Amino acid sequence: MPTPRDLSSLPPPTPEEAAVAARMTEHLRAAIGTGSIPFSRFMELALYAPGLGYYTGGRRKFGEQGDYITAPELTPLYGRCLARTARDVLAALGDADILEFGAGSGKLAAGMLTELASLGKLPNRYLIVDLSPDLRQRQIETFASLAPELRARIQWLDRLPNDFRGLVLGNEVLDAMPVERFRITADGAKRLHVGWRDDAGFVWLEGELDPDLTARLEDYRLPVGYTSEVGWVAEAWVRSVADSLSAGVALLIDYGFPRAEFYHPDRSQGTLMCHYRHRSHADPLILPGLQDITAHIDFTAIAESANAGGLEVLGYTGQGAFLLASGLPELVAQADSTDARTYLTMTEQVKKLTLPHEMGELFKVMALGRGAVPRLAGFALQDRRGRL
Ligand SMILES: C[S@@+](CC[C@H](N)C(=O)[O-])C[C@H]1O[C@@H](n2cnc3c(N)ncnc32)[C@H](O)[C@@H]1O
Repeated sequence: MPTPRDLSSLPPPTPEEAAVAARMTEHLRAAIGTGSIPFSRFMELALYAPGLGYYTGGRRKFGEQGDYITAPELTPLYGRCLARTARDVLAALGDADILEFGAGSGKLAAGMLTELASLGKLPNRYLIVDLSPDLRQRQIETFASLAPELRARIQWLDRLPNDFRGLVLGNEVLDAMPVERFRITADGAKRLHVGWRDDAGFVWLEGELDPDLTARLEDYRLPVGYTSEVGWVAEAWVRSVADSLSAGVALLIDYGFPRAEFYHPDRSQGTLMCHYRHRSHADPLILPGLQDITAHIDFTAIAESANAGGLEVLGYTGQGAFLLASGLPELVAQADSTDARTYLTMTEQVKKLTLPHEMGELFKVMALGRGAVPRLAGFALQDRRGRL
């Protein structure tokens, strides 16, 4: 008989957190009933169930008090580099906007607007679409310190606008979208579901054979037992961005690989990764509502979806190469090196952003575009579209 999972390697939830997890558990159990739900539905509820999910229940997510740190949270240098891409896109398009998905604490938006003001190329509007109501509140607090002339450009939208012209930005947004988890059997691919057992909590179950999944995975030649994910929600989202973007660039930054690496034999247990108070592990069925659940991105699938929507892939490279070609060395050179402490902190941040074993290589930058868009400087050092 399986025993309940051992959580001893993770920091214990506070009593308030335990109460949140208990409410989320009840919610998920009600959805499961006496049967099971596909993992994609479990992930969607655990992250986004109104008022309860990880992104919708008010939990502090980023920063030292949270569960993980993203590049915009780490250093303003990141937004200053992305602002250089934004400037070039806005300059090529004339009157245009920026549209950021999943804007987190708002630090990237605030940093980009400030930098674009000093570069003399502000967008008409800085639009934000986020599924998280509590992050929207946090964004409002972040923007309070901006100059009124910059703050006035920010607007929140509930959905994608029609005929958008400008720069679409998604930093670590694709990885927060629910994925379908599957296992290859001798007869074909099966979706993995989640059920409930009183003696074990949430458990993995194999669903029926799935003809759509089997057809999609046929060419990948995965062995029996291979378990991984398909990011159908992210692919559909890219398609909707393609439908909305009448002219401009979508810049997507996230961790992932081209398909051949994503479904590599060494990755036979998939790419799910959970974050709870700066610890990472691979069990999404524990700590419901308290931990972030993510999956890596199959960037080949993202490129295919973009192409199907009429977008061209303008560039694809590692985050390190992109930032180094986007003015990061020049920004570091301008910094005051006589303040040793601040300078040291900055060089540590630069290493984290760019070194291959930190964020520099696992994180990728993909640019998708339509219309008369400029060559993007960020891909000048290295462009790996050929590997997709
Ligand atoms: C990992 S956080 C990244 C936040 C921020 N971009 C950063 O880098 O610090 C993922 C964010 O994406 C948002 N998100 C996920 N799916 C989304 C969608 N379809 N539309 C808009 N936001 C989405 C979540 O609500 C969350 O705020």
